[in-house]
Amino acid sequence: MRIGVLTGGGDCPGLNAVIRAIVRKGVPEYKYEFVGFRDGWRGPLESLTMTLDIPAVRGILPRGGTILGSSRTNPFKIEGGVDQIRRTLMNLGVDALIAIGGEDTLGVASKLADLGVHVVGVPKTIDNDLSGTDYTFGFDTAVGIATEAIDRLHTTAESHHRALIVEVMGRHAGWIALHSGMAGGANVILIPEVPFDIAKVCDWVESRYRNHYAPIIVVAEGATPLDGTMAQVAGEKDAFGHVRLGGIGESIAREIESRTGKEARTTVLGHVQRGGTPSSRDRWMATRFGLHAIDAVHDGDWGTMVALRGSDIIRVPLAEATEKLKTVDPTLYAEAEVFFG
Ligand code: F6P
Repeated sequence: MRIGVLTGGGDCPGLNAVIRAIVRKGVPEYKYEFVGFRDGWRGPLESLTMTLDIPAVRGILPRGGTILGSSRTNPFKIEGGVDQIRRTLMNLGVDALIAIGGEDTLGVASKLADLGVHVVGVPKTIDNDLSGTDYTFGFDTAVGIATEAIDRLHTTAESHHRALIVEVMGRHAGWIALHSGMAGGANVILIPEVPFDIAKVCDWVESRYRNHYAPIIVVAEGATPLDGTMAQVAGEKDAFGHVRLGGIGESIAREIESRTGKEARTTVLGHVQRGGTPSSRDRWMATRFGLHAIDAVHDGDWGTMVALRGSDIIRVPLAEATEKLKTVDPTLYAEAEVFFG
């Protein structure tokens, strides 16, 4: 049997660990051959392939990024895209696909599975916002990077009596902001799930100064102000219709300066959060996802995604995992509010 493997969406620490585990189990145990599809769904659309055998996956476990490359190509937005994918799979003698990705890549996988393509999914995203799994790999690494940044920013905030705003990733879900903000002792955490009141944020900033400390505000890039309280930030859209975000941290800094008279500066962590070597937890999770994904292929369990539930790896329908995003429950956010101000 020949299996195609692809990685789609934003890169994420741990992608290579999944690829390695798939090949390291699939070749000796099930005698499968693999085809690496390059650059997400663009690979099967344009027949972009690479060799994916045991020598190809040697030494990649601790490497960030993805040896297969990635893209945000959406075959359902391309005329004849799905037929083209079917043709490629047939021409290359590929019987099944393993798609490693987030909501967009796995959303495509789910629709293809409905159309009869043999697909198994693996959940990846630093945002941790995929339903059906307790955690996605990449998240732990991203939280570690953001926490270290917050730790380092505390010293500058205190030395210069500045309000420091740290903008982290999280388009629709505030998981990175919540976890890193709590771990790093932020004084305010703003997440997309709970629109914020800038006047309240400024109150917290001022109360922090009254206690002779300088405030650290962690804001998810997708956080939004309450309607009519502050200007909104807009950007271009990608092939999945997502606006390119970035800029809310700077807007908050300007508001804090004008409303409180205190100096405010912003650090945007951006792609640093997705780059570099995965944490040991992410390597462990990604490796187990890879091992279980190839088992799902062996069982012909098409249209499923491997998922972490407690410490077990289970399989859930791709349709269920991609139906709606896993966002932060407001009660969980309320726990962090104890430390605001
Ligand atoms: O992969 C998800 C994510 O990390 C989001 O948090 C972020 O908005 C987006 O990727 C940025 O992606 P890109 O690098 O394609 O602009």
